Amino acid sequence: EIKVVFDLLVYNIGQLILPKNRLKPLKGKEMSELPVEENAAFAVKNGKVAWMGSSAKAESVEAKERIDAHQKVVSPGLVDPHTHLVFGGSRENELALKQKGVPYLEILANGGGILSTVAATRQSTERELVEKASLHLERMVAHGVTTIEAKSGYGLDQETELKQLRVTKKLAEKYPVSIVSTFLGPHAIPSTHKDNPDTFLDDMIGLLDLIKKDQLAEFIDIFCETGVFTIEQSREFLTKGKEKGFGLKIHADEIDSLGGAELAASLGAVSADHLVAVSEDGMKSLGKKDTIAVLLPGTTFYLGKDEYAPARNMINEGVAVALATDFNPGSCVTENLQLIMALAALKLNMTAEEIWNAVTINAAYAIGRGNESGTLEIGKWADFVVWDIPTYHYLPYHFGVNHAKSVYCKGNKLWS
Ligand code: NIG
Ligand code: FE
Repeated sequence: EIKVVFDLLVYNIGQLILPKNRLKPLKGKEMSELPVEENAAFAVKNGKVAWMGSSAKAESVEAKERIDAHQKVVSPGLVDPHTHLVFGGSRENELALKQKGVPYLEILANGGGILSTVAATRQSTERELVEKASLHLERMVAHGVTTIEAKSGYGLDQETELKQLRVTKKLAEKYPVSIVSTFLGPHAIPSTHKDNPDTFLDDMIGLLDLIKKDQLAEFIDIFCETGVFTIEQSREFLTKGKEKGFGLKIHADEIDSLGGAELAASLGAVSADHLVAVSEDGMKSLGKKDTIAVLLPGTTFYLGKDEYAPARNMINEGVAVALATDFNPGSCVTENLQLIMALAALKLNMTAEEIWNAVTINAAYAIGRGNESGTLEIGKWADFVVWDIPTYHYLPYHFGVNHAKSVYCKGNKLWS
């Protein structure tokens, strides 16, 4: 008889959070179910989950290293499916403008906002961007995140967009964290193209073949918003990208209701993000498809708005909901996905079960990683967090601090 010796055994788990994997995102009411195993254990081999069972059975399991979870909560590593991780500079000057009541889109129209980050990103070297993004990424990991999406969009020219995407690739080589890259070339209209945005859009479409050839991004995204890109421009960009084999994402219906959700559903986008101003029809069309609504309550909070995305209505319409930080230097300056979980409870009225599903399995599907991340199952990555909380209900309740005790990615301890 050959006895397997595992690399790692985690035992004495008070609550092991085991989101259901139905091979597609959990939709609507399905999100209210969150299976939890008490007195559980699991073992890891070669970075993957290789055995699961009770803590009692774990006594006879052999492993090179044994971790006592001390009856705490263990969950899959969190997934942050919408971040703008790579950028130069910072925009603390905008806080005072915001306090004076200057709207977000007005700061942008005056050449600030996204455009000021574009200037700083163009000036930064690749190395500087790697170093800066590393600090942000490590802070995300410290808060329990082991899989993230990272968008470009602070270049708005060939050289800088490709530089940002190469930085993302370097980060993926530097860390075991799973990083999914998204090309967001049409994130704003550069001042040089103010009067001919279509030419700019054509330039961005012109980059798609190169990005595909060098495998610099899996997804494409566009900021569909008043004064930025129209529905027609968004349809054109996303359709071209779809033909070339990219997965689709869209910054949709954030400030004005333009029909971005309807467009996302009709094109079979993997996700539609923001959706604060989504229409009734938009919600219904998402519910009919598997397009995931990625909600970003941290952004609504940070922009100082009172209206949040209608999460409850979406869930009633059968929409699959995921949550993300939207980490970026302008509209949501935090790496802390746990804070977003608290905002989801307090401002989106989501239940604890829905929230955990939204930052694990549904978030993984929102970036095409539902088959390898987002749940703890035999054969999937051993990405997990030992939380210093007594039950999973505790996390969204106690807000603004870090509850992660130790964070493991592909079986490696990344933070404690
Ligand atoms: O998702 N809405 C557009 N893009 C980002 C903000 C980027 C920025 O302000 O730098 C967002 O909120
Ligand atoms: Fe965003």
